[in-house]
Amino acid sequence: MRKRMIAGNWKMNETYSEGVVLAQGLAKELADGTGDVDVVVCPPAVDLKGVAEVIEHEDAPFALGAQNVYWEEKGAYTGETAPDMLTNIGATYCIIGHSERRGYFHETDEEINKKAKALMAHGIVPISCCGESLEVREAGKHVEFVVDQIKKDTEGLEITDPAKYVIAYEPIWAIGTGKTATADDAQEVIGAIRATLKEIFGDEVADGIRILYGGSAKPENIAGFLTKEDVDGALVGGASLKAESFAAMVKASM
Ligand code: PGA
Repeated sequence: MRKRMIAGNWKMNETYSEGVVLAQGLAKELADGTGDVDVVVCPPAVDLKGVAEVIEHEDAPFALGAQNVYWEEKGAYTGETAPDMLTNIGATYCIIGHSERRGYFHETDEEINKKAKALMAHGIVPISCCGESLEVREAGKHVEFVVDQIKKDTEGLEITDPAKYVIAYEPIWAIGTGKTATADDAQEVIGAIRATLKEIFGDEVADGIRILYGGSAKPENIAGFLTKEDVDGALVGGASLKAESFAAMVKASM
């Protein structure tokens, strides 16, 4: 019942013109469609318009996502982007709570929760990230840590359509390190996330929410993650920067 999702997080890579070329390459690779898989591309803010134009002109089978948002409607918030600005440019998804934002920019669960509410009020689907550090994992506290993040990040959210909220479990020690979690590691935590969602939102909603794995996901290991019952796709960093490898991951998920 859950549609698989492959989402690309370009992070702070690709200038405007490089982003257009990458999006064009991806449109070409995926010209035969993506079957039942939802594909999302999340470029840096300044590339969003260029990628939106590629999607429109090439009728490309992927959706546009941002990497961050601010929760206020407008005003004196230098450097920030409002939800309405994303909607206006054609973005329908937005990553929030990435561990790089939590770490380097000190974002809190409370702020991530405000961002989710602001996005959902504007019809943008949050891709809300969670995940533990190596230290927490080595202490054996990873499930408890992530469950706590989920409770705080989803507090007070009203989810009626489960397709409108996505979670990405990204263990920090596996991001950009080449060190992947095993499919069993992913299922352990993602299964616990779904159980927590059931407690909060009830079985029907929780069974419809997509939960992605992220952290050195690539064409060679994506199939293994997808054999697990609660893993619905991947949030892909490094391997989303080449059209062929990202498209290969989409095809492996079809
Ligand atoms: P990675 O990044 O695939 O390069 O490990 C994943 C992410 O941080 O979203």
